[in-house]
Amino acid sequence: MKTVISTLIVTAVFSALLGLMVMFSGWFNVSTVWKDPALVQWVLATTSTNSVASRAKNIEVPSLGSEEQIKKGFQSFRAMCAGCHTPPGDDPTPMALGLNPEAPDLAKSLKSPAEIFWVLKNGIRMTGMPGWGESHTDEQLWEMVSFIGELPEMTFLDYLFLNSEVPLDEDDGHGHTH
Ligand code: HEC
Repeated sequence: MKTVISTLIVTAVFSALLGLMVMFSGWFNVSTVWKDPALVQWVLATTSTNSVASRAKNIEVPSLGSEEQIKKGFQSFRAMCAGCHTPPGDDPTPMALGLNPEAPDLAKSLKSPAEIFWVLKNGIRMTGMPGWGESHTDEQLWEMVSFIGELPEMTFLDYLFLNSEVPLDEDDGHGHTH
């Protein structure tokens, strides 16, 4: 029993020292240029996917997909998201190219509407994906979920058409009009 306890104590002290060495030596590379090994990527992505899924489980999804929701969602997307999440058929911005992990193509998202809502409201730590719940009402977030739901069917032309139908000087309600 004594040996077990002393082994545990030595291991704990050693781990703490190792942790302090990683923190203070500068060994860890925080660069976005350096890509994580596949195993680390898989561990992080799996942790994130399950975290979102378990937290989104009890979210009630309202009725989605009305023209008004889609248009308003589009305006929010253009103002706040397109710089990172490249719209259908468009070229990535310099900002999108510099992200690690990269911002996924939302047309190919495997997440359910409830999960997307949770991500929009809370963001995803340490990835660059901001949470928008501090600045937006649930209704506005569902409008974006509605818009994202249309993306798989949307061509670049559809996207531009949505744009042309909405006068640019009409306020999107968030003070982000360009
Ligand atoms: C500064 C860059 C940035 C901005 C701005 C941004 N995102 Fe993201 N977003 C990301 C990144 C990076 C990820 C990937 C996170 C990860 O790997 O877990 C992400 C993930 C997501 C996901 C999860 C997709 C999936 O399939 O896992 C959704 C949905 C999403 N963003 C929607 C939005 C919406 C809507 C907006 C605008 C309101 C927005 N994002 C703005 C960078 C951004």
